[in-house]
Amino acid sequence: MSNEQTLSIVKPDAVERNLVEDIKNIFIKNSLNIIDSKKIHITKDEASEFYKVHQSKPFYNDLCAYLSSGPIVVMIENAILANRKLMGATNPKEAEENTIRKLYGISIDKNSVHGSDSLENAKKEIEFFFKN
Ligand code: CDP
Ligand code: MG
Repeated sequence: MSNEQTLSIVKPDAVERNLVEDIKNIFIKNSLNIIDSKKIHITKDEASEFYKVHQSKPFYNDLCAYLSSGPIVVMIENAILANRKLMGATNPKEAEENTIRKLYGISIDKNSVHGSDSLENAKKEIEFFFKN
């Protein structure tokens, strides 16, 4: 069995609307294991470090302000692609039916969830939130 891990985040818009359990249940029902989970509230500097890969993008500043605007739930799950498939497209308007972003996303920025996009980034992102 694969021991691949990914970092999954329930973003502030979804935590605020009490969607954490609903979102966790979608992952669990679809055979993903949630290996670890914690609720935290990060600073804008921490968000800027986490989203460093996007620092050249026009939405970077707003994105970092947003991720630090309220509590988030960070989780370790056990499959990168399965997590991304269940999240759906970045823009909720383009996401497939029954994906988390289609069901709960408000807009391209307030899209309810994050999931690592590769093994390399998953390792870095898990390290960022779960190792001291
Ligand atoms: O999260 P995902 O990997 O699907 O998308 P990304 O391209 O890595 O972008 C990271 C995050 O930036 C997205 O989840 C959105 O919250 C935000 N974003 C945005 O605010 N405006 C865009 N045009 C694109 C992304
Ligand atoms: Mg991404």
